[in-house]
Amino acid sequence: MRSRIAALALCAASVYAADLTGRWTGPASTADNGQELVLAIKQAPGGGFSGYVQGPRATDTIVGGKLEGANLTLDVERPGRNNAVQKLAYTGVVEGNKLKLTLPAPFGGRGGAQQKAPPKAPPAPQVVELSRVSNDAPTPLPARPAPVSLPMPEPVHANGLAKTPPMGWNSWNKFRNQVSDKMVREIADAMVTSGMKAAGYIYVNIDDTWEGAHRDSQGNITTNNKFPDMKALSAYVHSKGLKLGIYSSPGPKTCAGYEGSYQHEEQDAKTFAAWGIDYLKYDWCSASQVYDNTQATMVNAYAKMGLGLLNSGRKIVYSLCQYGNLDVGAWGEKVGGNLWRTTGDISDRWDSMQRLGFELQTDREKVASPGHWNDPDMLEIGNGGMTNDEYKTHMSLWSILASPLLAGNDIRDMKPEIADILMNKEVIAVDQDKLGKQGKRVAKDGDKEVWAKPLADGSQAVALFNRGADSANVTAKWSDLGINGSRAIRDLWKHADLGKKSGEFSTVVPSHGVVMVRIK
Ligand code: GLA
Repeated sequence: MRSRIAALALCAASVYAADLTGRWTGPASTADNGQELVLAIKQAPGGGFSGYVQGPRATDTIVGGKLEGANLTLDVERPGRNNAVQKLAYTGVVEGNKLKLTLPAPFGGRGGAQQKAPPKAPPAPQVVELSRVSNDAPTPLPARPAPVSLPMPEPVHANGLAKTPPMGWNSWNKFRNQVSDKMVREIADAMVTSGMKAAGYIYVNIDDTWEGAHRDSQGNITTNNKFPDMKALSAYVHSKGLKLGIYSSPGPKTCAGYEGSYQHEEQDAKTFAAWGIDYLKYDWCSASQVYDNTQATMVNAYAKMGLGLLNSGRKIVYSLCQYGNLDVGAWGEKVGGNLWRTTGDISDRWDSMQRLGFELQTDREKVASPGHWNDPDMLEIGNGGMTNDEYKTHMSLWSILASPLLAGNDIRDMKPEIADILMNKEVIAVDQDKLGKQGKRVAKDGDKEVWAKPLADGSQAVALFNRGADSANVTAKWSDLGINGSRAIRDLWKHADLGKKSGEFSTVVPSHGVVMVRIK
């Protein structure tokens, strides 16, 4: 009854006064109802505007504007980097207690500090529909609370999972906020029919943008309208002999501005277990705004979820994503982590992939072992931004590094040459070798590099890379590999025995390409 009266009062207000003062809310993204946009506005009797627009990743202060008939313009200021202020404008059309607001910049989709190369065409302006939820003038935004400091925690026991680097698929690289229940089911089907599952790719991982805008009345995390029933989805994925992964953040918001697990760590771990989740990627994102960003605090924040997962009643692989900061290799294992990102985000370009793979992995092999892996980010193979030789380099290098192999392409629509790269059994065997040793660079001569990984049977996987612009002769010397005598060589891309060699193995390698062999 009371709400009816309130609704009538709101209705009356909109009919009799063109005063926009109040609170207006609605979904911030057209792709789902998982992020909220709040307009808290005060309209002065003379027509001036103040208040703020709070979106998933930014709060804009209203500094002016005008209402001409039903057409609204709001001038806002957004805090930028280094105290710079961006001046932006929203436009809108008022229809009673509804407001169609055109956003000044895209809110949906990708977030985080590491942006991908700008898209070729600017995205179409996004229009969101807000509803008036009160007529109250906005109260000032609370000041940001002091950063939280946490002590170094007790170590979390190992969960015994991921004895070899996890293999599977993740939605982010190709699909960003387009991932949905339907897509995940289709990908799961395709993982089986394409042969990916048989090749070892088992985890089907939902990245950011599955979360609902609000927790329920008990504080449980919810899904948005792209994921109507997570439990049914996990049952479907499990029925295919695959496992389901999900994503969250130790912060209040994820990198794309969706709900994070801050102050709900244990509860969310239980929810994930109840849904039948087998893998969690836990992404720092907005945690940097609530925590003090010291190593002890970050370790504590990750240990909270590590413990939550361990006590959740389900075996869940734990993937840390904090971009390799604060010496994560020294503590990733101690928070119950099975893998930890060592870099910012990969993108589907040679420069990005080679920087992450060749430059940022030095000396990290010491902390990798069965159950605990360095993660130079997910695969871009098949997404179209690199040549097949470059994708072979990507696959070879990640395997030499004993990296998680998480395909990031559209498995439903995979060209045969891409399938051949992702499903090269001999290269996968290097990545998945039971010894669990991460390989490393053993020789470098300008753009020519030799990397080697010791394998369980005493042989070595050796990759001869050419990062230069022209094809070149690359040599792997026995002295660099710590071996001697006559050795059998097997080419892992040609699937051919090359006979025995003494002292060295020398071969022509195409520009940005690789020759990968096993030397026994
Ligand atoms: C960060 C991560 C990415 C992806 C996005 C999702 O940028 O590093 O891998 O998970 O967040 O918003």
